Amino acid sequence: MVFITRPLLVLFLSCYTSLALYTPPDNYLISCGSSQNITFQGRTFVPDSLHLLKTGNSSVVEEATNSSNLSIYQTACVFSGLASYRFRISSPGRHWIRLHFSPIKNSTWNLTSASVTVLTDDFVLLNNFSFKNQQILKEYTVNVTTDSLTLTFIPSNKSSLAFVNAIEVVSVPDSLIPDHANTLHPSSPFPLSRLAFETVYRLNMGGPLLTSENDTLGRRWENDAEYLHVNSSVLVVTANPSSIKYSVSATQETAPNMVYATADTMGEAANVANPSFNLTWVLPVDPEFSYFVRVHFCDIVSQAMNELVFNLYVNDDLAHPSLDLSSLTNGLKVPYFNDYISNASSYSGGSLTVSVGPDSQGDITNATMSGLEVFKISNEANSLSGLSSVKSLLPGGGGSCSNEKKVVIIGSAVGAVTSVLLIAVCCYCCLASSTRKKSPREGGNGNGNWLPLPLYGLSQTLTASRKSNTASCISLASTHLGRCFTFQEIMDATSKFDESSLLGVGGFGRVYKGNLEDGTDVAVKRGNPRSEQGMAEFRTEIEMLSKLRHRHLVSLIGYCDERSEMILVYEYMANGPLRSHLYGGELPPLPWKRRLEICIGAARGLHYLHTGASRSIIHRDVKTTNILLDKNFVAKVADFGLSKTGPSLDQTHVSTAVKGSFGYLDPEYFRRQQLTEKSDVYSFGVVLMEVICCRPALNPVLPREQVNIAEWGMAWQKKGLLDQIMDINLAGKVNLASLKKFGETAEKCLEEYGVDRPSMGDVLWNLEYALQLEETSLALMEADDNSTNHIPGIPMGAMETFDNSIVDRGGGNSGTGIDDDATTSAVFSQLVHPRGR
Ligand SMILES: *[C@@H]1O[C@H](CO)[C@@H](O)[C@H](O)[C@H]1NC(C)=O
Ligand SMILES: *[C@@H]1O[C@H](CO)[C@@H](O)[C@H](O)[C@H]1NC(C)=O
Ligand SMILES: *[C@@H]1O[C@H](CO)[C@@H](O)[C@H](O)[C@H]1NC(C)=O
Ligand SMILES: *[C@@H]1O[C@H](CO)[C@@H](O)[C@H](O)[C@H]1NC(C)=O
Ligand SMILES: *[C@@H]1O[C@H](CO)[C@@H](O)[C@H](O)[C@H]1NC(C)=O
Ligand SMILES: *[C@@H]1O[C@H](CO)[C@@H](O)[C@H](O)[C@H]1NC(C)=O
Ligand SMILES: *[C@@H]1O[C@H](CO)[C@@H](O)[C@H](O)[C@H]1NC(C)=O
Ligand SMILES: *[C@@H]1O[C@H](CO)[C@@H](O)[C@H](O)[C@H]1NC(C)=O
Ligand SMILES: *[C@@H]1O[C@H](CO)[C@@H](O)[C@H](O)[C@H]1NC(C)=O
Ligand SMILES: *[C@@H]1O[C@H](CO)[C@@H](O)[C@H](O)[C@H]1NC(C)=O
Ligand SMILES: *[C@@H]1O[C@H](CO)[C@@H](O)[C@H](O)[C@H]1NC(C)=O
Ligand SMILES: *[C@@H]1O[C@H](CO)[C@@H](O)[C@H](O)[C@H]1NC(C)=O
Repeated sequence: MVFITRPLLVLFLSCYTSLALYTPPDNYLISCGSSQNITFQGRTFVPDSLHLLKTGNSSVVEEATNSSNLSIYQTACVFSGLASYRFRISSPGRHWIRLHFSPIKNSTWNLTSASVTVLTDDFVLLNNFSFKNQQILKEYTVNVTTDSLTLTFIPSNKSSLAFVNAIEVVSVPDSLIPDHANTLHPSSPFPLSRLAFETVYRLNMGGPLLTSENDTLGRRWENDAEYLHVNSSVLVVTANPSSIKYSVSATQETAPNMVYATADTMGEAANVANPSFNLTWVLPVDPEFSYFVRVHFCDIVSQAMNELVFNLYVNDDLAHPSLDLSSLTNGLKVPYFNDYISNASSYSGGSLTVSVGPDSQGDITNATMSGLEVFKISNEANSLSGLSSVKSLLPGGGGSCSNEKKVVIIGSAVGAVTSVLLIAVCCYCCLASSTRKKSPREGGNGNGNWLPLPLYGLSQTLTASRKSNTASCISLASTHLGRCFTFQEIMDATSKFDESSLLGVGGFGRVYKGNLEDGTDVAVKRGNPRSEQGMAEFRTEIEMLSKLRHRHLVSLIGYCDERSEMILVYEYMANGPLRSHLYGGELPPLPWKRRLEICIGAARGLHYLHTGASRSIIHRDVKTTNILLDKNFVAKVADFGLSKTGPSLDQTHVSTAVKGSFGYLDPEYFRRQQLTEKSDVYSFGVVLMEVICCRPALNPVLPREQVNIAEWGMAWQKKGLLDQIMDINLAGKVNLASLKKFGETAEKCLEEYGVDRPSMGDVLWNLEYALQLEETSLALMEADDNSTNHIPGIPMGAMETFDNSIVDRGGGNSGTGIDDDATTSAVFSQLVHPRGR
């Protein structure tokens, strides 16, 4: 029996691992359009010409260059229709897909105008991606579970092109990416094995650019300097790369030793007042996605064990307190890494930040980081770009056409680089012709492009079989939906869906203004017939609206279910969405009183939804574009496509996939996927903030702290300074007490936890109170013309007292009187004389 002490064992294994070089079972390096082998950054790319089926609409583009200096960026394959490459996968598991793009200048093809959509069998990698004049390398990690991988390139618009210069499909060592990683705050395991990643950052702290020549796995590591926060005073330290001692957990594959041999540490704090500061990297990200963050450390700083102790923060969350590298790795110069999942809700500012800062437990005040990788995680729609799924982006939405898909596989070679096969999918043509036969819109103004609209994810499926003929009118008639229109009537009402009568485009489809024979103005919502999700929303909307009638809900006049169409006819709302009166248009600013009345109307509508029916209804998509105004500016809540019946009496919530609109999403709902009415209350709080500030809920071009109106408004409201960021048009024209009440109401709606938020009924009362304050002050102002010094201090103080009791009274408001449109003065008198409610 031989006893090996632990350090020895580590040493032994490190020798072993550094010897065993990983050979990827699948290793395809393809230079598209090239006629010869090209050695690029130490690796040989082979031409795809032998394997490319030219009957697909693909062409080769070359850059006029001196042929002595070949690069994979000098040729490209151009596709004017759908085209696919198929790779045979010998060993299932994670694979890197690297796509090289360079919009070559060529007189025949203008590649800078290309917009590319790239799909794998299951994931959307790129969606409508366009190019500037630069070379781009995109890297993805996809778990391939079958024996092939298909990469499909689609021009995003009918008139545009798709292209690619080079493709890599390379196996990832199994040990590199774990099955689970922990989320931050609260920490819980997050399963990764079924998800795809896009590498968005791979940084070598303080070190040089490393390319595939310097990394045995062909990765690219960039210097981090441009992402350092300005306040980070950095000193770069370096060690001899050969002195790095790999361990069992962090091997040569984890990162090349050149990553660990350089690190950023804290510089002497000469220009920093506080010697204890953080090193912070600010990484702009798409806030709609979650990210997988891997931090790499190696203690090349300290001279002895346990000297260097520091804290690691990700997005201001303490990800690892008192990180003592040497005790974790049992030695100096031993690499260490850790993984975290940063949830989409946690960086509403549009940037992911990673910081290290000294901890009081250490002997020396210092902190270090060697490398950082950030991967975007595919979303609910299995997409890494936008909300459309593979199915919705493939022409025909993967419908009946997929049976007729003609797959032509030609050529297969031997060796490490084997069959790259192009599949010509005739779906495009088959679909184009079949819709032309069926679709009546071709007869319109020729505007027959019907691109799949982005929808809200795909988890929700509704098994609905629809007939594409006129008989279907009967199938829905039983739901008492009012009038059943024929398609011809709809065509007449909208002048054949004339683009000039287009009112808007939403998640479900397009909305046109129409005029019925009897002269009634209507809004005609036409769903995208290709989308199953659209069908689900169409149904939901019909089901919801057939149950609901209220002055503050948009009412349904009828529908048309003929010829594969999903058309709903609503009362026409002459003044359009609330949003267009707040910003982004030429409409005159709304006075404060009108804004209050609109908010009150919308709150009434939502209150009715929550309490009016036997089971409450949660709208799930409350936003300023879904609050419509009629010709008298009466606010009505619209768009019930995402609505859900609320929890029954014995439940506290409904568990459901997260849907809604970014910027309005309740963070608690997002985290826990548990839906309650309080999620609508949160969204309504965002609406209230928009009404004050007149800016979009999310505005990514603003500085980080301003991007999200909920955050930004809350910050100022908590300081009691909301008037500092309010709409400039309101300055001097709003009663400050009314504004204060309004701000407090918004603040309560935006509370982090649903239990702390008021019910919609409470919100309603508070808004009515704010309106009353405004009306009182208007009356007093008029009176002031004659008798000055009449300050409304005393009555307001008195009302404030009553109001608190109302806010604290909890959900005691019964469902009675929901439908009433009690005049505000009646409400006011109740406020002043609160009876035992
Ligand atoms: C290109 O490279 C492949 C694999 O590296 C090799 O089998 C082939 O012979 C090369 N072709 C030419 C023309 O050099
Ligand atoms: C192929 O491309 C040409 C020109 O780009 C276009 O005219 C033709 O219609 C395309 N063919 C198909 C089948 O898409
Ligand atoms: C454009 O590409 C074609 C191949 O499609 C090539 O023959 C031609 O030389 C290229 N023109 C220029 C100006 O690079
Ligand atoms: C090719 O090389 C020659 C001489 O080295 C140079 O004058 C010419 O500009 C080069 N052409 C291109 C397209 O780079
Ligand atoms: C060859 O290409 C590299 C980069 O692509 C460039 O730096 C170099 O100047 C080129 N050499 C010649 C002779 O064109
Ligand atoms: C190529 O397309 C881009 C974008 O559509 C346009 O700005 C540019 O002028 C075009 N270039 C040529 C040479 O047509
Ligand atoms: C693609 O993006 C361009 C702008 O970059 C936009 O005009 C176009 O509508 C988009 N197309 C689709 C199908 O989303
Ligand atoms: C890939 O997916 C399969 C099936 O979901 C799973 O069993 C396997 O562990 C995954 N592989 C990796 C490397 O995540
Ligand atoms: C990367 O590898 C190339 C080729 O081996 C070498 O010239 C270069 O110096 C290496 N880079 C670094 C940072 O070591
Ligand atoms: C951190 O460690 C490096 C390397 O030992 C050293 O140069 C630097 O001065 C230290 N920073 C502070 C603030 O002590
Ligand atoms: C470092 O950053 C974290 C997170 O932003 C913060 O809580 C901490 O106070 C900062 N430490 C110092 C010394 O600035
Ligand atoms: C102010 O007083 C005048 C005369 O006393 C009266 O006509 C006018 O209506 C008063 N204005 C208001 C706003 O009460």
